[in-house]
Amino acid sequence: FTAALSLASSPVVAPVNRRLFGSFVEHLGRCVYDGLYEPGHPTADADGFRTDVIELVRELGVSTIRYPGGNFVSGYKWEDGVGPREERPRRRDLAWHSTETNQIGLDEFARWAKTVDAEVMLAVNLGTRGIAEALDLLEYANGHPGTELADRRIANGTTEPHAIRMWCLGNEMDGPWQVGHLDADAYGRLAARTAAAMRMADPALELVACGSSDSGMPTFGAWERTVLAHTYDYVGYISCHAYYEPYDGDYASFLASGLDVQRFVDSVVAAADEVRAERGGEKDIMLSFDEWNVWYHKDQLDEEAAIAAADTAGARDWPVAPRLLEDVYSVLDGVVVGSILIRLLANADRVTSASLAQLVNVIAPITTEPGGPAWRQTTFFPFAATSRLASGVVLRPDVTVATTPTSRYGDAPLVDAVATWDTEAGALAIFAVNRSLDSEAVVTIDLGDLDVTTVAETVLLADDDIHARNTLADPERVTTTGMPCTLQDGVLSFTLPAVSWAAVSAA
Ligand code: AHR
Repeated sequence: FTAALSLASSPVVAPVNRRLFGSFVEHLGRCVYDGLYEPGHPTADADGFRTDVIELVRELGVSTIRYPGGNFVSGYKWEDGVGPREERPRRRDLAWHSTETNQIGLDEFARWAKTVDAEVMLAVNLGTRGIAEALDLLEYANGHPGTELADRRIANGTTEPHAIRMWCLGNEMDGPWQVGHLDADAYGRLAARTAAAMRMADPALELVACGSSDSGMPTFGAWERTVLAHTYDYVGYISCHAYYEPYDGDYASFLASGLDVQRFVDSVVAAADEVRAERGGEKDIMLSFDEWNVWYHKDQLDEEAAIAAADTAGARDWPVAPRLLEDVYSVLDGVVVGSILIRLLANADRVTSASLAQLVNVIAPITTEPGGPAWRQTTFFPFAATSRLASGVVLRPDVTVATTPTSRYGDAPLVDAVATWDTEAGALAIFAVNRSLDSEAVVTIDLGDLDVTTVAETVLLADDDIHARNTLADPERVTTTGMPCTLQDGVLSFTLPAVSWAAVSAA
């Protein structure tokens, strides 16, 4: 089938915001311990961080990194993770039924983030804690010499303030699974009071209120309206969390996950704009898609149910850094990740922050083996290429293409795409996905007035076996290739195999 795209009359959506290429590090499973931190590893640096992982994170091109959770943060005492390591307590982490050793905390993590050129986005605990602890953490992290907690940070070896700008006001407080879960009204009040106090300390902070943990939550929509009615004056963002997986082999719906992302964005923007109108407000609330990915969540829930059923005596132990949520991604999953990035970019006027959840080992683009190698999962490739090639401003092309029926999201266009245009560099980038399970797409793109004459680079993620994966035994089974692409008389042409994602850059 053919897909006719045109940039001839595409208005500029917004500048490419680097914060769209964020990720997430939670104290969960082997993300931190035996992931980015493994002191005994042959590649470990003086701080115990794996330099092979650092290199991969740099190649991935992440901008912001959300830390330290996630569900973990709702029971976390940040003080446990600072100061002399030998004095740090071991504690039970109720969210993931693990033991937290606290060998890594804010100071070490912020130092690591610097080595990968990433901005830290810090979450405060509004599950078991509140305003006072959030203010203490803010003072410890960002304070200047002369007050107790700033001086404690300095005494602990970090002279310069961490200068953290983005702060999450708790995590997924709408979820009954959250330690300290609240209803929208109670959370909205707490978040507003916390945000107001934090802004008294520093009015320049960028604060993120918790939105819904999924667009399928029973409170979706109402939650956003209530929370923003309380917090509108104090926050810049409302969060969105979205994870996708194929249900019962329904790959057509899975490949159309971007349609759900679009509905999610449209609904949250509508709720935010309604609050703005009611308040007579002047600012638009932006969306922070600060957890998104493919996640075989159902498998994990089944596993947990089996453990709980077997554990009649309630005697489960509390392991340190267990293997949790270690999904091994297929080419199909990688294509879906690429397609979600297309939708996030296409909504860059309202989605101004996003975090691929997570970064290492836990539903992650990077996997490590203790004492062994680190390698790229399939999902690594579209993320790295988009982060590297997207620059300038976002353009939404007109797309003329057939649709395919899906059971979850209705009719889905077989091709989705987005473009970026960097006037200064004279560089164009196109990102496109073919959602068809069995047919290739012959794609043409009318470039309108854009002054480009040469194809600079093509990146294709596709495979005869859409279930192919990278594993310890075969860590480079899946990689990307180039693809034939022509540029003639202002028209780009290439063919996308069934179930594929591609990027093209031209200058
Ligand atoms: O990313 C894994 C978990 O998913 C996070 O801890 C939580 O916020 C979400 O439910």
